[in-house]
Amino acid sequence: MAESLFIVGATGRVGKELVSQIFDKGDNNIALHQNPTSIVGVASSKSFLYDSGGLSESDIRSFSAKRKLGTKYNKLTDLLEPLKGSKDSVSIVDVTAEAERMLELHKKVIFETKHKIVTANKIPLAISDYVTFERLVSEISRYGYRCSVMAGAEAVDKIRDLRDIGDNPTEITGVFSGTLGYIATELEKGRKFSEIVKEAMENGYTEPNPVIDLSGSDVASKILILARTAGAHIGLSDIKLSPFIPDEYLNAVNVGGFLKGLSNADIKLASMMENAQRNRSTLRYIARYVNHGRPRISVNLEEVSLDNPLGQLKGAVNKIIIKTKTYGDRYYSVEAPGAGADITAQNIRRDLLYQLDNRTMSNS
Ligand SMILES: NC(=O)c1ccc[n+]([C@@H]2O[C@H](COP(=O)([O-])OP(=O)(O)OC[C@H]3O[C@@H](n4cnc5c(N)ncnc54)[C@H](OP(=O)(O)O)[C@@H]3O)[C@@H](O)[C@H]2O)c1
Repeated sequence: MAESLFIVGATGRVGKELVSQIFDKGDNNIALHQNPTSIVGVASSKSFLYDSGGLSESDIRSFSAKRKLGTKYNKLTDLLEPLKGSKDSVSIVDVTAEAERMLELHKKVIFETKHKIVTANKIPLAISDYVTFERLVSEISRYGYRCSVMAGAEAVDKIRDLRDIGDNPTEITGVFSGTLGYIATELEKGRKFSEIVKEAMENGYTEPNPVIDLSGSDVASKILILARTAGAHIGLSDIKLSPFIPDEYLNAVNVGGFLKGLSNADIKLASMMENAQRNRSTLRYIARYVNHGRPRISVNLEEVSLDNPLGQLKGAVNKIIIKTKTYGDRYYSVEAPGAGADITAQNIRRDLLYQLDNRTMSNS
């Protein structure tokens, strides 16, 4: 039996890498796998290809590289139409950054069909209400979302397991943004904030519009997903979020205006870092979930001691610290290199393994 995939976002960075890994690593090779992967569908924002018997490698690679166009579609949920006659369940892989319309697709797939989802897109989970979140993720073998946080490192799985064995995390503290981690460690060297941001932009470390990184909303979405995985009834609007720099710098009408005003934040950030260093500390953009009866989440630029595991982080490395009642003063940590399409695609393939019926070891 083949594992059937429909990759939505197959023309993006992660989607393209996923297509390459599936063929280059032989996931589709029947000599290696009892359940070889068969890609039955690929979609971009505008068009799709579908063949219930499996698309050819050359068609998939051409589509992914935008050399071949597919059939145009209107609504994302239209992509489910061709799957209606399918005997087997199909894993739909979401490697887009689409919000409401993608949440509709996730809901339709999980609530109304036998098909499955694997998502690297965190937005549908972050914008959903708590009840919808619980319903989406509750059937573990049908909804893989490890890649929505830390590019698929063991954060989601560990927290879910702790919840299921009755030791729900009471605290999760983390540095989740490779970009903001990089900026903070460069500030430690005495460099100017505005210069670091411009350099990070030029090197592609930030989103095309760095306001998205500096606003902290991405970090808030990630800690929310982990807190909800830990069982907390909490939503985005409950989070106490302070952006990396004050809102006044983030409200510019366009990227050019934002960059012009950025040097005004240099003195403030330099003096915050100097104060921290006088206390043998440094600055880190920390997301914190605490639940000792009432769940709370905050996201802030904080002074942390150089002895603290988060204070010791360098560059784009992400890390979370998990505490539970059983751990007491001890803690469990998960550390991961900053996000990248290669690691994310690999962890999507791991999530897909967990969706196999009767998984067996490969012959490789
Ligand atoms: N890049 C990373 O290192 C990384 C790491 C972890 C998680 N992620 C997450 O993975 C997702 C994809 O990231 P990426 O870097 O690959 O993004 P990307 O390069 O911008 O690719 C986005 C993909 O989504 C498609 N798309 C855009 N709008 C759509 C819509 N309305 N409906 C359907 N498809 C749509 C695009 O199609 P077109 O080609 O037609 O525009 C493209 O195929 C994001 O949610 C991101 O947060 C990324």
